[in-house]
Amino acid sequence: MLPVRDTVLYPQMVTSLFVGRPPSQKAVEHAEHAGLPLLVVAQRDQEKEEVEPPDLFDVGTTAAIGRTLKMPDGTLSVLLQGQERVRVVDWVSGGAFLQAVAAPLPDERVQEDLALLAQRVLELFEHCVRLSPHLGQEAYVAAMNAGEPGRLADIVAATLNLTLAERQSVLETTRPDARLGRVADLLDKELRVLDLQRQIQEQVAQELGRATREQVLREHLATIERELGSADPFQREMHELRERVATSDLPPAVAARAREELDRLATLPPAAPEVAIIRTYVDWLVDLPWCAVSEEVLDLPRAERVLDETHFGLEKVKERIIEYVAVRKMAGAQLRSPILCFVGAPGVGKTSLGQAIATALGRCFVRVSLGGIRDEAEIRGHRRTYVGALPGRVIQTMRQARVVNPVFMLDELDKLGLDFRGDPAAALLEVLDPEQNHAFSDPYLDLPYDLSHVLFIGTANTLDTVPPALADRLEVIELPGYTEEEKLEIARRFLLPRQIAEHGLPAGHLALTTPALRQLVRGYTREAGVRSLERELGGICRKLARQQVRRSGPARRLTERILARYLGPPRYRWGLPEAEDTVGVTTGVYWSESGGDLAPIEVQLLPGKGKLILTGKLGDVMKESATAALSYTRAQARELGIAPDFCDRLDVHIHCPAAAQPTDGPSAGIAMATALVSALTRRPVRRDVVMTGEITVRGRVLAIGGVKEKVLAAHRAGVRTVVLPKRNAKDLDDVPADARQALSFVLVERMDEALRAALCVAPAAG
Ligand SMILES: Nc1ncnc2c1ncn2[C@@H]1O[C@H](COP(=O)(O)OP(=O)(O)OP(=O)(O)O)[C@@H](O)[C@H]1O
Ligand SMILES: [Mg+2]
Repeated sequence: MLPVRDTVLYPQMVTSLFVGRPPSQKAVEHAEHAGLPLLVVAQRDQEKEEVEPPDLFDVGTTAAIGRTLKMPDGTLSVLLQGQERVRVVDWVSGGAFLQAVAAPLPDERVQEDLALLAQRVLELFEHCVRLSPHLGQEAYVAAMNAGEPGRLADIVAATLNLTLAERQSVLETTRPDARLGRVADLLDKELRVLDLQRQIQEQVAQELGRATREQVLREHLATIERELGSADPFQREMHELRERVATSDLPPAVAARAREELDRLATLPPAAPEVAIIRTYVDWLVDLPWCAVSEEVLDLPRAERVLDETHFGLEKVKERIIEYVAVRKMAGAQLRSPILCFVGAPGVGKTSLGQAIATALGRCFVRVSLGGIRDEAEIRGHRRTYVGALPGRVIQTMRQARVVNPVFMLDELDKLGLDFRGDPAAALLEVLDPEQNHAFSDPYLDLPYDLSHVLFIGTANTLDTVPPALADRLEVIELPGYTEEEKLEIARRFLLPRQIAEHGLPAGHLALTTPALRQLVRGYTREAGVRSLERELGGICRKLARQQVRRSGPARRLTERILARYLGPPRYRWGLPEAEDTVGVTTGVYWSESGGDLAPIEVQLLPGKGKLILTGKLGDVMKESATAALSYTRAQARELGIAPDFCDRLDVHIHCPAAAQPTDGPSAGIAMATALVSALTRRPVRRDVVMTGEITVRGRVLAIGGVKEKVLAAHRAGVRTVVLPKRNAKDLDDVPADARQALSFVLVERMDEALRAALCVAPAAG
């Protein structure tokens, strides 16, 4: 007897079994030797290792042994062919293996014809084979050729996937009709299972088809592209671009254009020259801000605080900015932003003020320098057909901003050039015009771009060279430059603390005495703004930082003497009045961007024929002024006590050595005339008088500019009296009070009044 765990052997079936249990192996060997059939019976409990007769079914199958093979793991592979159904009738006790006496159990005879039933089973089986992924065609062929109905049932039962109990029950059914019926039931059940499986599969496929098909496909595509990716960066980039276009927040028109371009890109071979162009273009479309805004903060006190924290003085400018914030708060976004333009000398804080405005409004700050731009295409960009074409500066800067409402500084409007390549100012006009700038056109983009949310701020050193059409659109705010006192204050409050921090020194580590600071301003800088001042302070901090490395000392208090040690001898000298009252020399006062200063005006009379010699880098206006002064003197010679024919005997040389700086303007007129009269009358000029004013040939004195700076220069130089045109009286209001009090002003309408104020009464001896 060979007990088996998980199978049932049917008559005539061939099967191969692995026999592992030693008693079973002995049984096989014995049967083989003795030429006896092996009795194959299934165990009731498959798990049981050592089986006793009660553990086995009563009905089994006798089998002939085909061949046996010893396997490397010690088991025995046995090929068996089933012979006939048997029922165990008696057990043979004792022995190394189970032995039993069995009686054959032949199929019962039945009256009725089973052909119909067999036909039905065969049909069901065929259906099953067709549906099942596990059954092969050969199983059906075997069933077709079964011959007897009972055998057909056995074949079908052997091939189907049945439980051991089901198999055993087929084995135990000896009536062929009953067995066929039983098998038909099992087939039916199997078919229903198969059908259900098919239904589920179809349903899943359908659902996938509807909802997830696209995603699955996309994933496939991504996988394919990824797979290809290592070999084909082009595909990968294409995919990335598409993703970016899909995920970016683009207006419909822009998104449509981007997709259009991508579709075109997809049709091109990767090596085509247009590929790079299109890719860059789509990059630009995606990178530009189209909708993103930074939230504007319209908080008056905050804005005021920010401006005060970053900039000293500049009251008028700050006021204008606060007004803007206030109006905007009330009028909302539909208010057309004014285009402010800061005009002033270098370093007066134009750029930094723009930045402060952005901070005050909580908006992003960007800046474009227009210096040296001569080509319209630099502002607007080139058409894409150009090799290496890019958008213009405006669009480039908007990309930097990443939002559509930055504070946008147009720096150096006055340095804008103009030549045959078109007028960049014309392009700027469109940028700044509120009627047009909601659809700014850049030929590269080829799509209108909305600049209307931008707050533009221009800067220029002077308005003279700003194209008039452009200047017309700007609301000009002048930053006049700082007086010495203001510079001291700015240095103390802003520049020094900042430089100390930037150089990594402890806060408050360095202090300058007021005289030292004043000396720094006077002797080491010459400017209207404070940039050099800041640089010099930086220089001092650098030196200190170096010492700091060597030894840490107490906080430094810088005096004038130490200043010279750090920075070397002073670089600039300010004009000073003459040491004593002198014949033929007046002290003029001029004004330049870097402030006012004194300059002597010398007249020398030479033997000659009335020629006027002018030296000292004078401009045309100043030369004309000198001529006017000479004509006045000649015309008034008699009243002034001068020989009327002096021009027949003398040449007049006027020299204006204003530190070799080119100077121009009419304001030296009365000073030149005074020096000339002094030289001719030999009446000395009072050394403590400075004078400024334009002269006419009839001796009238006309108004001039730069009064504030000129008066401050006089004050700084320690002069006592300033001769000014009467028409400039109103400008004295701008002069700081301390300077106004220390000086006396002689306001003149006519030249003789000026002479009276400047000339000593008695002629010099000799
Ligand atoms: N009123 C001020 N208060 C504090 N700091 C100031 C003031 N004015 C200018 N500064 C400082 O001076 C430096 C130069 O200023 P900024 O660069 O803004 O000058 P600018 O007018 O733009 O000059 P440019 O015409 O050369 O561009 C900055 O560091 C700025 O902070
Ligand atoms: Mg600047």
